[in-house]
Amino acid sequence: MKKYNVAVVGAGAVGVEMLRVLRQRNFPVGKLKVLARSNRDITVDGQVYHVEPITPQSFDGMQIALFAGTEGEKGAAVTYSEEAVKRGCIVIDNGADFRMEKDVPLVVPEVNGKDVKQAKKGRGIIANPNCSTIQMVVALAPIHKMSKIKRVIVSTYQAASGAGSKAVDELFSQTKGVLEGQPARPEALSKRIAFNVFPHIGSFAENDFTSEEWKLILETQKIMNDKKILVSSTTVRVPVKVGHSESVYLETTKALDIKKVKAVLAKAPGIIVIDDLKTSSYPMPIDCEGKDEVFIGRIRKDPHNPKGIWLWVVADNLRKGAASNAVQIAEELVKQALV
Ligand SMILES: NC(=O)c1ccc[n+]([C@@H]2O[C@H](COP(=O)([O-])OP(=O)(O)OC[C@H]3O[C@@H](n4cnc5c(N)ncnc54)[C@H](OP(=O)(O)O)[C@@H]3O)[C@@H](O)[C@H]2O)c1
Repeated sequence: MKKYNVAVVGAGAVGVEMLRVLRQRNFPVGKLKVLARSNRDITVDGQVYHVEPITPQSFDGMQIALFAGTEGEKGAAVTYSEEAVKRGCIVIDNGADFRMEKDVPLVVPEVNGKDVKQAKKGRGIIANPNCSTIQMVVALAPIHKMSKIKRVIVSTYQAASGAGSKAVDELFSQTKGVLEGQPARPEALSKRIAFNVFPHIGSFAENDFTSEEWKLILETQKIMNDKKILVSSTTVRVPVKVGHSESVYLETTKALDIKKVKAVLAKAPGIIVIDDLKTSSYPMPIDCEGKDEVFIGRIRKDPHNPKGIWLWVVADNLRKGAASNAVQIAEELVKQALV
């Protein structure tokens, strides 16, 4: 079997998950490099990986570069993606910097896997969408094929790990500290996360929406190639370690039979439906950690609108929301013989 030389940039929450996913999905890795700021060894699931300080030359001889490095507010891909492409890599970037660029495809393989080929004509970069967008579009796409979706109103319940490994440490240490009567001092997150929720992810932007809320609005239209899907959102941080949940309200053009919607979702790629009210079964973050699928439950019709449908959508933000989606994009490149 043909093998591919892979560089993983970043060894934080997403970078570590990327190493795990490459191994678990048996991606045909030839040479592997892990690049971050400092020289050290890290152990992931008992496997030791050497981390090298990143330089432009690190990408020599590599074919695929999976970026999950932060550099202040930006991603490391801002500094290094051009160098990686110049040296023959296709870049798959988890950061937000290139997602809305015209010549950069924004890909969720279950929805628009065919778009990876645009990277060859464009800048050699494929963007991985935002974690909360990925899981939502996987859920929306099969319904959109049944009847065009006009409107989506989504509220998210996002885990601390969505803000990186320091935010997870803060969730643990702050929870312990608050239980011991110490004052909470938020650093990695904007507000106290222990025993709290707050509607502020990213920075405040246009129309008083946050940057995270705008990502849901704009990225959905780009991935689903439909500017008529009008998304509105409120994004909320909750004291969960891993797994984003979303309450999604959508309105289709035609009224749909809810039983058919459930059947279509249950058969759709990358989706697991958990929806049995008799046994109080619905997806929760604790059940989705470590999984690559998007979990959907509480599928129901709006009693006041025959074209309105509610979904509860949960996924592991570090896996489907980041690392697994990025590795699936790499698999798509292999499948389409683009590397
Ligand atoms: N967490 C999520 O759910 C999620 C989901 C989707 C997308 N993302 C995106 O994925 C990226 C990584 O997020 P994360 O949550 O893994 O962050 P993180 O846990 O804070 O880790 C950041 C990593 O970036 C490395 N780094 C910093 N500066 C660098 C540089 N100049 N060159 C190369 N590497 C550098 C750090 O290296 P050292 O270890 O050496 O300090 C660290 O390993 C971000 O762009 C984020 O927006 C995250």
